[in-house]
Amino acid sequence: MRSKSKIFPVILTTILLLAVAVVGYIRSGQTQPMPVRILFKNNGGKVIFSHLVHHRDYQIECAQCHHDKSEPAMVSSDRALACNSCHPNEFNEDFVNNHIDSFPDESYCVRCHHTEFDEVIFDHEAHKDYASDCYDCHHGKEIEPEPQKCSNCHEGEDSGDLISMRLAGHESCANCHEDMFDKGLSSCNSCHIPVDMAEYDGDYTSCGSCHEAEPRELVLPRMNAFHDQCMSCHEEMGAGPYGPDNCNQCHISR
Ligand code: HEC
Ligand code: HEC
Ligand code: HEC
Ligand code: HEC
Ligand code: HEC
Ligand code: HEC
Ligand code: HEC
Ligand code: HEC
Ligand code: HEC
Ligand code: HEC
Repeated sequence: MRSKSKIFPVILTTILLLAVAVVGYIRSGQTQPMPVRILFKNNGGKVIFSHLVHHRDYQIECAQCHHDKSEPAMVSSDRALACNSCHPNEFNEDFVNNHIDSFPDESYCVRCHHTEFDEVIFDHEAHKDYASDCYDCHHGKEIEPEPQKCSNCHEGEDSGDLISMRLAGHESCANCHEDMFDKGLSSCNSCHIPVDMAEYDGDYTSCGSCHEAEPRELVLPRMNAFHDQCMSCHEEMGAGPYGPDNCNQCHISR
């Protein structure tokens, strides 16, 4: 049998400890930006990721997950960008509109928007001699009353029957320079001077203007980014779930 006088201090201590714990818990949300564990709710079933354990116990450096080669994904030693600032579910209109505000500063942009082209190298005078006449490149009088800038009619995008400036240029140059397009992306610089991206402050050209590939083939979408990063490390280290039979070790419920 315990007397009241013994129980009271126990209750008091418990309350005090609880209060300390609650305050500590709330404060930790503000002062400790690294989450202890992360719950992913997704169509494959919830995944609980032991974030702190992965770092502290399995001894994995922050930068190994929050990107490697260069730091940009780590804002400072204890802050990191969510993976889906860069690896979205879909590269749709929402992504295009929202991703621009996902980064602390402009230095992040050039990780993906890695190159832009300056003026085209084209010696018009010399080409007058290379061609049999002006109409090798310019339209006849029925379209072009007299030779003029192509961009007077051809615009940035296709419009109606009129192809874009890019296509108009490419098709017309390719009549004689097919060889310059043969090697794909590695031969663009025969005509295009690339800009120094460290100095660049113009608009970014959509990836599709230069790449035939869809954005999702150029930057991993969210699920693939997680699967790729989580599972290739597990496989490499021979520890943690990976492979076609172990989905349920990460996806605990639907
Ligand atoms: C084993 C891989 C891994 C390691 C190691 C790791 N993290 Fe993370 N971290 C993640 C993943 C995955 C997320 C979830 C991101 C998301 O939801 O998009 C995350 C989320 C975060 C977030 C929250 C980002 C947000 O806005 O949602 C912060 C902050 C963070 N980590 C910091 C760190 C720090 C600091 C370290 C090192 C002390 C570290 N992480 C180590 C994988 C890791
Ligand atoms: C600031 C933008 C950015 C953030 C944030 C980011 N990534 Fe990436 N990630 C990229 C880019 C760009 C590439 C492709 C080029 C490269 O490899 O650097 C990439 C490539 C990858 C790859 C392909 C393999 C590799 O390592 O090159 C994986 C896997 C990946 N990211 C997973 C993640 C995960 C998981 C997170 C969150 C913990 C994350 N990324 C956060 C931009 C980002
Ligand atoms: C090899 C293809 C080619 C040939 C041949 C060619 N042009 Fe052009 N020309 C172009 C292109 C491409 C442009 C657009 C250049 C630009 O917008 O900077 C152009 C632009 C022009 C312009 C507008 C220049 C300006 O800055 O406003 C005139 C005028 C012109 N050409 C006249 C001629 C005449 C006259 C001939 C024949 C003697 C001729 N071109 C032959 C491709 C050609
Ligand atoms: C005055 C307006 C105008 C100018 C200037 C003009 N185009 Fe066009 N271009 C058109 C029109 C209209 C069509 C569509 C004609 C058709 O469908 O037959 C066209 C079609 C084309 C096509 C695709 C069909 C074809 O003829 O092969 C190419 C390539 C092209 N233009 C290249 C050029 C180049 C290169 C220049 C500059 C040297 C130029 N255009 C200047 C109006 C113009
Ligand atoms: C009628 C044929 C013809 C057309 C059309 C043509 N070129 Fe040329 N181009 C030549 C010839 C011929 C040369 C000189 C020989 C060589 O270097 O291949 C040349 C040379 C060049 C060179 C220098 C190549 C080097 O190796 O130094 C560039 C750059 C170039 N052209 C760009 C263009 C661009 C851009 C267009 C389209 C706006 C274009 N050319 C359209 C025939 C053409
Ligand atoms: C033979 C020369 C030549 C080659 C090679 C070439 N281009 Fe072009 N490109 C042009 C011309 C000419 C234009 C139209 C001129 C303009 O827009 O000022 C153009 C326009 C473009 C534009 C639109 C630029 C703008 O400001 O609107 C893009 C994007 C582009 N090219 C991408 C590429 C890519 C990617 C490659 C390599 C796969 C490539 N080009 C190879 C000559 C070339
Ligand atoms: C993780 C890679 C990545 C990063 C980092 C990134 N972008 Fe993008 N951006 C894309 C992709 C992918 C698209 C859409 C696909 C396309 O345009 O072909 C896009 C599209 C855009 C577009 C629309 C282009 C058009 O005309 O369609 C703009 C503008 C843009 N980004 C600006 C920015 C700015 C500003 C930053 C930095 C603050 C940035 N982006 C950082 C990948 C990225
Ligand atoms: C102005 C043209 C241009 C634009 C816009 C562009 N790229 Fe590229 N990209 C290139 C060229 C050229 C290469 C090959 C040479 C090199 O590595 O610089 C390349 C190479 C790449 C590669 C290496 C793999 C491959 O396909 O060869 C990736 C990944 C890539 N680009 C992603 C992107 C993404 C993502 C965007 C949009 C956010 C983008 N690029 C926008 C021109 C462009
Ligand atoms: C850089 C390496 C690395 C990355 C990236 C990584 N892991 Fe792990 N993971 C490990 C190691 C090492 C273990 C320890 C296994 C052991 O000790 O039995 C582990 C264990 C696990 C386990 C079982 C034990 C536990 O801690 O829950 C799960 C579940 C797990 N990882 C999920 C994930 C998820 C989800 C991701 C991606 C968001 C991820 N891991 C990314 C290295 C990694
Ligand atoms: C190492 C842990 C891990 C393993 C093993 C794993 N996944 Fe995942 N999976 C994840 C994570 C983390 C996400 C991303 C959660 C998010 O988007 O928030 C994910 C997302 C998904 C999604 C959701 C896609 C969406 O758009 O919502 C599906 C479906 C999925 N996984 C299926 C599977 C299948 C099937 C397997 C077995 C072949 C598997 N996963 C194995 C960790 C894992």
